[in-house]
Amino acid sequence: MLTIAVSKGRIYEEALPFLEQAGITPTDDPDKSRKLILQTTRSDVQLVIIRATDVPTFVEYGAADLGIAGKDVLLEHGAESLYEPLDLGIAGCRLMTAAPVGAPALKANLRVATKYVKTARRYYADLGVQAEIIKLYGSMELAPLVGLADCIVDLVDTGNTLKANGLEPRELIANITSRLVVNKAAMKMKHQAIQALIDQFETTLARRS
Ligand code: ADP
Ligand code: PRP
Ligand code: MG
Repeated sequence: MLTIAVSKGRIYEEALPFLEQAGITPTDDPDKSRKLILQTTRSDVQLVIIRATDVPTFVEYGAADLGIAGKDVLLEHGAESLYEPLDLGIAGCRLMTAAPVGAPALKANLRVATKYVKTARRYYADLGVQAEIIKLYGSMELAPLVGLADCIVDLVDTGNTLKANGLEPRELIANITSRLVVNKAAMKMKHQAIQALIDQFETTLARRS
């Protein structure tokens, strides 16, 4: 049995064509079902539906053999404990700093709100900028508007969320896409099945470009 960890929403939607090319069609729709384990048209493959940020944890501990996770989540989790064989090119966006329109770029005692605490800390340390990182779990864009922080580190796609809140993108930290990740032990123990899946995903990728 192969267990694949995915999150609901954009990653699930954009991963579906890859799964379907590999003969994997879930028998339930995660948006309609309350089930967290989805059986598929392949009796040897099941999906577990979890929060995007939990995907590396499930795969690292072998609770899932494979997973699909954003590079933002992998950067924050640390991916040394996982194999990352394939960039699926889905759920593309940018991890950026952002600040109120016209606000000064950097200041002393900079306060940064983000859910990407480790990544932000590393980014400002590499710049040699002293920054206090404030951990939030969502709605980062609000923080500068209410005086909680000077700027944020968050994902930007169209820029509409920033714009709607009087913020502007500043520095690019990383270009983000979703990756296939594999548990290291599973890669050895279930090599044939996992390699076959990687090959099928690669074929789908090649057809796209
Ligand atoms: P969450 O509940 O964690 O926000 P999402 O489905 O919104 O879950 O995000 C999952 C992944 O999709 C993120 O880790 C990131 O890689 C990517 N992503 C998030 N927001 C966007 C966006 N606006 N456009 C494109 N990709 C995004
Ligand atoms: C994501 C991200 C930004 C927004 C950026 O939020 O956290 O807020 O998208 O996209 P944009 O540049 O196209 O506006 P999401 O839509 O996932 O909502 P969430 O708060 O539920 O994560
Ligand atoms: Mg989101």
